[in-house]
Amino acid sequence: MSTTFTINGQPYSVNLTDLPPDITLNTFIREHAQLTATKFMCQEGGCGACVCAVSDGKSSWTVNSCLKLLNTCSQLEIVTCEGLGNQNSGYHPIQKRLAKMNGTQCGYCSPGFVMNMYGLLEQHGGRVTMSEVENSFGGNICRCTGYRPILDAMKSFAVDSDIEVPAECTDIEDLSVKPRNCPRTGKICGGGCQRSKLIYEEGYQWYWPKTLVELFEALENIEDSDEFMLVAGNTAHGVYRRSPDIKHFIDVSGLEELYQHSSDSQQLKLGANMSLTQTMEILQSTSKQPGFEYLEVLWNHIDLVANVPVRNSGTLAGNIATKKHHPEFPSDIFISFEALDVKVLAMENATDEQEMTLEEFLSDSNKKLVLKAFHLPAYPKDKFIYDSYKIMPRAQNAHAYVNAAFLLEVESDSTVESARICFGGIRPDFTHAAPIEQLMVGHKPFESGLIEQLFNKLENLIQPDEVLPDASPAYRSKLACGLLYKFLLKHAPDAEVSEKFKSGGQSLQRPLSSGMQLFQTQKQNYPVTQAVQKLEGMIQCSGEATYMNDVLTASNSVYCAFVGATKVGATIDQIDASEALQQPGVVAFYSAKDIPGTNTFCEPSFGYQAEEIFCSGLVLYSEQPVGMIVALTADQAQRAVKFVNINYSNPRADFQLMPSLKHVFSSPTLDASRIVPLAVSKLKDVKFSDKPDVEVRGIFEMGLQYHFTMEPQTTVVIPFEDGLRVFSATQWMDHTQSAIAHMLQIKAKDVQLQVRRLGGGYGSKISRGNQVACAASLAAYKLNRPVRFVQTIESMMECNGKRWACRSEYQCHVKSNGKIVGLSNDFYEDAGWNTNESPVQGHSTSTASNCYEFTESNFKVSGHAVLTDAPSSTWCRAPGSVEGIAMMENIIEHVAFEIQKDPADVRLANINKKSKMATLLPEFLKTREYFSRKKEIEAYNSNNRWKKRGLGLSVMNFPIIYLGQFPATVAIYHVDGTVVVTHGGIEMGQGMNTKVAQVAAYTLGIDLSYIKVESSETINGANSMVTGYAIGSESVCFAVRKICETLNARLKPVRKPKASWVETVEAANAQLINLIASDQCKAGDMQTYQVLGLALSEVEIDVLTGNILIKRVDLLEDAGESLSPWIDVGQVEGAFVMGLGYWLSELLIYEGDNGRLLTNRTWNYKPLGAKDIPIDFRVELMHNPRPNGAGFMRSKATGEPPCVLAVSVIFALQQALQSARQDAGLPREWLRLGAPTTPETLVLNSGHQVAEFKLK
Ligand SMILES: Cc1cc2nc3c(=O)[nH]c(=O)nc-3n(C[C@H](O)[C@H](O)[C@H](O)COP(=O)(O)OP(=O)(O)OC[C@H]3O[C@@H](n4cnc5c(N)ncnc54)[C@H](O)[C@@H]3O)c2cc1C
Ligand code: FES
Ligand code: FES
Repeated sequence: MSTTFTINGQPYSVNLTDLPPDITLNTFIREHAQLTATKFMCQEGGCGACVCAVSDGKSSWTVNSCLKLLNTCSQLEIVTCEGLGNQNSGYHPIQKRLAKMNGTQCGYCSPGFVMNMYGLLEQHGGRVTMSEVENSFGGNICRCTGYRPILDAMKSFAVDSDIEVPAECTDIEDLSVKPRNCPRTGKICGGGCQRSKLIYEEGYQWYWPKTLVELFEALENIEDSDEFMLVAGNTAHGVYRRSPDIKHFIDVSGLEELYQHSSDSQQLKLGANMSLTQTMEILQSTSKQPGFEYLEVLWNHIDLVANVPVRNSGTLAGNIATKKHHPEFPSDIFISFEALDVKVLAMENATDEQEMTLEEFLSDSNKKLVLKAFHLPAYPKDKFIYDSYKIMPRAQNAHAYVNAAFLLEVESDSTVESARICFGGIRPDFTHAAPIEQLMVGHKPFESGLIEQLFNKLENLIQPDEVLPDASPAYRSKLACGLLYKFLLKHAPDAEVSEKFKSGGQSLQRPLSSGMQLFQTQKQNYPVTQAVQKLEGMIQCSGEATYMNDVLTASNSVYCAFVGATKVGATIDQIDASEALQQPGVVAFYSAKDIPGTNTFCEPSFGYQAEEIFCSGLVLYSEQPVGMIVALTADQAQRAVKFVNINYSNPRADFQLMPSLKHVFSSPTLDASRIVPLAVSKLKDVKFSDKPDVEVRGIFEMGLQYHFTMEPQTTVVIPFEDGLRVFSATQWMDHTQSAIAHMLQIKAKDVQLQVRRLGGGYGSKISRGNQVACAASLAAYKLNRPVRFVQTIESMMECNGKRWACRSEYQCHVKSNGKIVGLSNDFYEDAGWNTNESPVQGHSTSTASNCYEFTESNFKVSGHAVLTDAPSSTWCRAPGSVEGIAMMENIIEHVAFEIQKDPADVRLANINKKSKMATLLPEFLKTREYFSRKKEIEAYNSNNRWKKRGLGLSVMNFPIIYLGQFPATVAIYHVDGTVVVTHGGIEMGQGMNTKVAQVAAYTLGIDLSYIKVESSETINGANSMVTGYAIGSESVCFAVRKICETLNARLKPVRKPKASWVETVEAANAQLINLIASDQCKAGDMQTYQVLGLALSEVEIDVLTGNILIKRVDLLEDAGESLSPWIDVGQVEGAFVMGLGYWLSELLIYEGDNGRLLTNRTWNYKPLGAKDIPIDFRVELMHNPRPNGAGFMRSKATGEPPCVLAVSVIFALQQALQSARQDAGLPREWLRLGAPTTPETLVLNSGHQVAEFKLK
């Protein structure tokens, strides 16, 4: 049976049985239609890389193509980013604005953002407000930009926008919504194409019932033992993976009965399979009817469920059915509906309907019970009070720690007639706080006596379960009580609530965000220092920019997946892949014994300890790859993995599994064999003063951070003649080439790499990507066919090391004026199972004094690596300096706290007077009104018990050093004078190619439009150093300038005074002058230097929930004389926001028993989103040209340093918490806040007791 649809207007007629029964739209678009603008990363609705738009002729909406199943796409018009616009047909206004307003860096996320915006405009007929726009990007993660420029570009389309738009982007005519025609009939689609059932050879069955009778016929055909699924949005797969054993798929989208809605004065009836978006539209309109005003609250709650594309597809029934299958699921729909006493209309055959409570439905054992509708009663607002809450780790697109909904029925005498007090996220068997509901009945809800009893009872009643990686029971219990308190504060009559408590009743109010970017340019040096648009910005926004997995291969390519070991500390005895090899589509299984050469992806000759590609003996960490499955599709490879049986032997009897730093340090006896001193101070004893005014001691802890590149670890290998062509997402081609060659025992010349660009690296692709690259190369070599290896998010998070977690144990003596007279800092960093890529001896140590003044005898810092049973930790954006500077800044803050001085003054007392920081800091404090704002904050805090504010400062001195060599080649074409540059660096979003083009144009004295930067490869980029440490751009620019100077010298003899560039080049060619030149930049060519920076972060916290707002950030970064200010501003904003994620939300949890990483998906690992960034984000690039000779053209690196400054946010939080603790009557005590300081940390440290909850 064939199905028809169009993609970008092109009709497709697909025989479904030729494809897997559960193939996603994403796989079809990319692999069959070969349209690669639509990316993927998480494959679970959590990142937004895959968003595209679909239309049925009547309306249009965005979907996550990674979740949408192709078998539900019949008759749809699918629009991908290349369909919106491209270089041939012209770009779409959204693509243009995003590119021209500096909204891309690596660009991997850009098509997803463009499509999300396109869908939003289509859905709203082109009329959206700024706040609607800002609210709609919760499902799109960007790890590079920090979101600010993206939001600006998108908000500029809003009807109320006041955002300045570049002159060339003011055309909006293409935004109009055009009706699309049905591909089958050629007319505007009216729906109703006839399909009924499809049986696949392997036994899978798809059904497309059009009536309830057909639906139940299909259900009757299914054996009780068979697994089946009613396919609505298929988004539940993003929460709980769909069972591979499902044989029957029943598409419910053709059943009109499930999509109808109606309302009268008594109830609103919602079709069970209405999407959450459709539901919200109906809630909004119905909320205007008397009795249904509460629907506005419900709207606001659903607005916090998932994200726009998931809500566009995900349905009410799908959500409730998921709760039925997984009682622990903290469903927001369930909690809201249960408090509202919503009834379900369920059917077990085509004719009989039964009204049930939700609880009845959930506990009903009939698997084939179909949800038909939900009945929402009217609740007149003069009689009922309803409110609901959802508290999560970031502002949007996260499931709740705890959610709650409360409905009170209040008599005219103000007593409660009935109460529904419901909490989610507590325990699978807990929803109603029944004793509280009973207690309230007959009482006035805001009576102080009742409130006291109520919270006494509630605290005992709420006993959350302890299931990692969920937040602790202590937090969830306090949070749940806090939510009920919040409800009472909000709804109590004004006079009943003390002024100081009132703001506790309000949720945090986040206004629209905005930013300010200040920099200077030098006209005489243009295009260098000019604020130019990123070279590849336009093609990134149209999706024409290609990444490694976009390389097209012949149709016989195969796909890989790692098989992971589970018994850490045991030895692999035998691997039996025979069952896996029988699975559909499986082509091969390879393990260590299949490797012809060396089994390592980290080369000792590159300074690494060897790390096995496939574990051949002792298992070092959970999910360590022991082999790989190669199959015809990626899904088949991933599914077959679990059929590989591994036998282990010799589990070490004395082995104590310790997968993280926390496990090592919480062990009753510290295992000294795990501690490797790497940077021990030569100083024996630090010289403390004899009589310190104060001694300060403490411990400061920072966790791991996952790089979270939007482009996964990816390698495509194509056997070519007698060698391999390797397209690998690597930051270090030289190392990858070497590892592959040695593994296969072939020559380096036979392994040629090409890297167009990376979709983000941040250190994760320096060496970690080599594992995938080697594995893919092995398969290509063995099978002699193209191989694709794209690691899944789980595999990436489990197998690849993260930023080194760090623990600092410090002691210092301080004078009463804040001057530190002696400091000792022993720090310990989590190496994983080996010390490869250690920052300990490098930046962690060299930045540990920051810009403060110490002598050789009064400052002692010793760094140690700690070996844990986890993947080897890696460099991650600003490795070492994040830890080094944070450790010192934390000590300054702690000192200030102990001596009760302002932290700014303590910094001033300690700054090295020779550092420029000595003048920068006072100036910064003055211009950013530090002291007056601090006073305002203190006043605010003393007037508000449950909302607190804080202002945190950080300063940095970031050393830049140069390493290795970077080659480059420049070729000038005589045909038209255009110039191509290729180099050994890697463009990964940092704007290297744009800077290179600016420098080439400047040096050759030609327009930027003449220059193109081609892919990096291992011929012109042979032997190149890794692109990292923020030095890649400068180094390659240096090499390119040298080359252009050489070419200028060659052209000089033929240059005529008035001749144009093209004429000069033509003349040179006529004289057979070589117009190709190569050269390099090597360590020592440029002097090292320091980057200075300052940040001031202002926060507000909700003490009852732990949620925060970053109200304002001022960031001043020394950029020297910025080569390309928009690029540098982007780097600064992006690095800072990545740092904020580290300090606030990115929590990684390892299970102690088996070493498994429990936070291995977008569902449970949370980088910040668009609504978490500073509301007012002011970035200034300090114009601080350095003398010639240091660095490149007086510029400074920007890619990594600002990440360091984000630590300021936890100092602001400390201040806010201290005020809360003071109000709670706790003694003054320094709090050990670290990375991440999550809402849980905040609530558990805020010191309040539930018994304290009073209205007055
Ligand atoms: C990234 C992401 C974030 C999310 N965040 C949240 C969140 O914060 N809060 C929250 O509550 N939820 C969240 N969800 C869950 C989301 O709400 C559900 O995935 C969605 O509602 C399921 O609807 P669906 O139509 O896609 O169901 P499907 O995935 O199509 O189906 C799910 C189940 O429902 C059954 N089913 C479908 N229709 C019926 C019917 N009529 N009768 C009986 N059974 C039926 C199916 O058989 C299947 O078992 C999130 C999901 C994702 C992907
Ligand atoms: S790949 Fe679809 S949302 Fe991440
Ligand atoms: S530009 Fe958004 S992830 Fe790189």
